[in-house]
Amino acid sequence: MICKSYERPSIIVTPCIFADHSALRTFDEFMGDRRIDMQQGTLLVAAREDEVVGYVKVAPSKFMGWPLLSILCVAPAVRRQGVGRKLVESAVSVPQWLRLYTSTEASKNVMRALLQTCGAREVGFADDLNMSGEREILFRLK
Ligand SMILES: CC(C)(COP(=O)(O)OP(=O)(O)OC[C@H]1O[C@@H](n2cnc3c(N)ncnc32)[C@H](O)[C@@H]1OP(=O)(O)O)[C@@H](O)C(=O)NCCC(=O)NCCS
Repeated sequence: MICKSYERPSIIVTPCIFADHSALRTFDEFMGDRRIDMQQGTLLVAAREDEVVGYVKVAPSKFMGWPLLSILCVAPAVRRQGVGRKLVESAVSVPQWLRLYTSTEASKNVMRALLQTCGAREVGFADDLNMSGEREILFRLK
């Protein structure tokens, strides 16, 4: 019997186009209409075997004038397979960004763990910002 080792399909990250929208909305957890983001050119999508499985949004000047990675979302069926990290790394490597920041609520342990694996540097926090009263932690990615 021949045993073939299983190779995970590679993840391709590209700028988002309108044709991606129907796939993206099947797993999008965030408020707002992603087509508006697409129009503004702020989204990258991750695809595996031609299927859209995640996206990241970078708003060019939302963090005190600096670019902010404001949304990262991966389809539940493919989580914990490196898609989120690949999206963050791809956003970081866009040559247009001189710096790149992101932030997350203190209780979002998965996002904090992911950011650690991407080499994000904690640069501060803000209290009295979230309606929940929860601390928002600020990171520099690049
Ligand atoms: C957060 C999110 C984007 C992570 O995406 P993902 O593709 O599952 O993440 P990855 O597989 O790339 O994980 C990278 C690292 O993050 C950490 N991580 C990811 N999921 C984790 C989990 N469930 N528990 C603990 N650590 C986790 C691990 O360190 C992991 O590295 P490892 O697998 O080598 O140990 C995804 O869970 C998601 O879309 N969540 C809902 C939306 C959200 O909360 N977005 C973030 C705020 S904008």
